[in-house]
Amino acid sequence: MPRPFPHRHLLGIEQLSRDDILQILDEAEPWIGFGRGRRKQDQRLAGLTQFNVFFENSTRTLFSFEVAGKRLGAQVANFHAIGSSVQKGESLIDTALTLDAMRPDVMVIRHSETGAPHQVAEVVGCPVVNAGDGTGEHPTQALLDALTMRRRKGRIEGLRVAICGDIRHSRVAGSNMKLLPKLGAALRLVGPPALLPDDTGGIPAFTNLDEGIEGADVVMMLRIQRERMEASVSGSLQDFHARYGLTRARLERSAAPDAIVMHPGPMNRGVEIDGELADDPERSAILEQVETGVAVRMAVLDLLTRDRR
Ligand code: CP
Repeated sequence: MPRPFPHRHLLGIEQLSRDDILQILDEAEPWIGFGRGRRKQDQRLAGLTQFNVFFENSTRTLFSFEVAGKRLGAQVANFHAIGSSVQKGESLIDTALTLDAMRPDVMVIRHSETGAPHQVAEVVGCPVVNAGDGTGEHPTQALLDALTMRRRKGRIEGLRVAICGDIRHSRVAGSNMKLLPKLGAALRLVGPPALLPDDTGGIPAFTNLDEGIEGADVVMMLRIQRERMEASVSGSLQDFHARYGLTRARLERSAAPDAIVMHPGPMNRGVEIDGELADDPERSAILEQVETGVAVRMAVLDLLTRDRR
């Protein structure tokens, strides 16, 4: 008998207890081996309809939700705001109600406005998954990050994790700052003062990269989110790289000897991270994050639709 999941939607990490998070990670784990097999077809979502509703660009999240749903047997339909009646001025809620009238069993939503998936969850008749809302949250990214760390390091409790770069505008940082402390990791934030949040929630913050990553077991790099900035960050990308770009030399000088590097993507090679380091499979878990992403999204889709089957 599968264990029930005590939430209708997955809108953010705040709502999840430590046990909820561990349930998702534990249920995701076997899907990694499944994904490596030749035949990748399960039928537990057969007959269910999954809508991926994307008002913002995506490669990893959109595609992995589609792959996850199809591997579970769901019928998956993707809605892209570009080319839709959103461009004729149709509102978020009218768009959501229109899609809901087609009776989906789960909706996955990405939107540039913080809180948009929460608004949609109020009016539709199915579970909603937040696939990234503005500068708010990206819960499945934080879950896949945690699973990647657990697989690489064997634990999360006690891990020293440095999140570096544009923290202020990053929903990935927003979700990780809520999730990782629940699992006992010791977090630090590193970035230029203008890109650190006003309220770090008690998490230590550093403006010097070498100091911030000192002894870190995991160094998570984030890109500068220019699309979410009111004013452009001062200085050139070369200046940013000189002060905040992660290079092999910097990692080996300051982080733990066996530190791993993570990045949610998309990467700006030569800005926040050197391409050579990103491509080193010993150090970099970046492509592993993509693989665990499919597994985590399979677990989330399975958990949220359990009472509809
Ligand atoms: N990590 C992430 O959200 O990537 P995409 O924007 O490509 O989905």
